[in-house]
Amino acid sequence: MTLAEERNWHPMPVDGYPTPTSDLQTATEKILQDCLESQISGDSAHIPALQKNAHVQFLLRNLVQGFPARYTSQDASQPWLIFWTLQGFSVLGVGLDEQTKTRAIDTLLALQHPSGGFAGGPGQFPHLLPTYAAVCAMAIVGKGGEGGGWEKIDREGLYDFFMSLKQPDGSFLVSHYGEVDVRGIYCLLAVATMLDLLTPELLEGTPEFIAACQTYEGGFCNASFPDWALGLGNAKGKSFSTDSRPPLGEAHGGYTFCATASWILLQPYIQTCYSDKPKPHIQTSALLRWLTQMQGSEIELGGFKGRTNKLVDGCYSWWVGGCVVLVEGLLGLGEQDKDAEHEQGKSDEEDAWDDVDDSLFNRRALQEYVLFAAQHSAGGLVDKPPKGPDAYHTLYCLSGLSAAQHHMFPSGTRRKEVSEAWKDGEKPADAQLTKLRHDAFVSSLSWVEEEGTAKYIGGEQNRLNATHPLSNLTVTHIEGIMAHFYGQSIPRRGFSAKKSE
Ligand code: FPP
Ligand code: ZN
Repeated sequence: MTLAEERNWHPMPVDGYPTPTSDLQTATEKILQDCLESQISGDSAHIPALQKNAHVQFLLRNLVQGFPARYTSQDASQPWLIFWTLQGFSVLGVGLDEQTKTRAIDTLLALQHPSGGFAGGPGQFPHLLPTYAAVCAMAIVGKGGEGGGWEKIDREGLYDFFMSLKQPDGSFLVSHYGEVDVRGIYCLLAVATMLDLLTPELLEGTPEFIAACQTYEGGFCNASFPDWALGLGNAKGKSFSTDSRPPLGEAHGGYTFCATASWILLQPYIQTCYSDKPKPHIQTSALLRWLTQMQGSEIELGGFKGRTNKLVDGCYSWWVGGCVVLVEGLLGLGEQDKDAEHEQGKSDEEDAWDDVDDSLFNRRALQEYVLFAAQHSAGGLVDKPPKGPDAYHTLYCLSGLSAAQHHMFPSGTRRKEVSEAWKDGEKPADAQLTKLRHDAFVSSLSWVEEEGTAKYIGGEQNRLNATHPLSNLTVTHIEGIMAHFYGQSIPRRGFSAKKSE
C-alpha cells in the first residue's frame, strides 16, 4: 500500500477554472505531502518528536537578546510578545527565575496608562488587546505582596477605562477613537473575570451584541452592524435585539474563538440578570458544524484553517481547535457521565481516550499537523512550511497541540468543590453582584482536565502542560490570580488530574 492510499489522500477537487485560491490550495497540499514524506522515511507509523529544547531556545533567544528587527511592526504589541513568550514557557513546562519575573513585571507595569488600561508600547494609548496580554503575562510572573506586581494593577482605572469604551449597543471600542471588534470584547471579559471587575452595568447588552456576530456559516465575525448604521439611533434603554442587527463580516476562526469564549464568560451574567427579559441565543449546532468543517482533510494533515476556502495554518490549532473544546464544554458533552464515572471509580484504563470519535474534532490529526508541519528545524513553530518561526505561531501551535493532547472540560464536581469553598466578603454587597462574582469565579475554575484521557501522539515525551481553554493560561496560573483578586482560597482538586501542571 502506498502512503497516499494508506493516508487516504484526496486533493481538493478543481473545476478546470484555476484561481489564485485553488492554485494556493494545490501548492499547499503538495508542500504538506512532501513535508510528511520527508519525515517518515519509509516507516509510515513514525511520528516526530516535539523538539522542546529547540523551541525553548527560540523563546529564550528573544527574551535574552531582545526581538530581532523584523518585529518592529509589532511595536504596539509589546505585551503580546511578552505573553506569547512566557506562556510558551508555561506550556513547555519551563519555570522562570526571579530576575526574569521581576524584569517582566517592571516592563509590563511601565505600559500601564495613568488613566487605566495597558498600552502596546511606552507612551502609547491604552487598548483592550495589550491589556489582556499584559494581565495574562502578569498572571504568569506576578504574585500578591511587595514586588509581586499584582497590587500595582490599577483596577479602578481599568474599570473606568472599560466603561469609557462601552457603546450603547453593548459592544466596546478597542481603544478611544478605535473600532468595535469581538477580539477586544473577549480581552475585556477575560480581564474583568480574572480581576473581579464584572458588574451588570459593564455587561449590559454585551450578550446580545456577541450573539448578533454569528454569521450564516455558523462561525462568528468581527462585529455586528452598529445601531447608528441601521438608522436605529442610540439604542440605550431600548431593546438589545439580536435579530435586527446583521453581522458585519465573514466568519473567521480568530473571531469565533473570541466570540465563543466571550459567550461562555457572559453565562454567569446571563444566568444572574435575565430573569425578567428574554435570554439571547447563539446557534450552537451551526457553530460546531462550522468549526469541524475548518479542520483540514488528510492531505492537509488535519491542521485547521481560519475561514472557508482558505489555507490551513498552525495558529488555528488553538483558535479553532481550542474553540471546539469550548463548544464541547458549552454543550456539557457527557459532563454528568464523566463525573459519575469518576465517582464510581472507573479505572483510567477503561476510561482512556482510545477512540478519537470521543471528541468533536480529530485530535490525533491535529497533533500530527503540529508535529510534522509546524515545527521549524531551527526551533520555534510556524504557520506552515516553508515559513519562518515567530513568537505568535510558536505559542498558538503549542497551545493547540496541548488542547489536542489534554481533554479539558467544565466539571460539575469541581464546580461544587470551588463553590463550597467560596466565602462572601465582609463588605455588604448587593445580592445580584455577589451572585455574579461567585458564579464567574466558580464557572471559570470548574474547567479541569479529565483524568486518564490525555493522549500524546509520538509518546509521552511530546507531552505539554494543559492550558485553560478560556484564558490560555495554565490552571495553576488562572487559579492563582483569581484567588488573589477575589480574596478566595482554592480547594485542592479532588478527582481531577493534578499531573497536568
Ligand atoms: C485574517 O488573516 C485574520 C483575521 C481577520 C483576524 C484573526 C484574529 C485572530 C487570530 C484572533 C486574535 C485574538 C485575540 C484575542 C487578539 P489572514 O487573511 O492573513 O489569514 P487567513 O487567510 O487564515 O484568514
Ligand atoms: Zn497563523
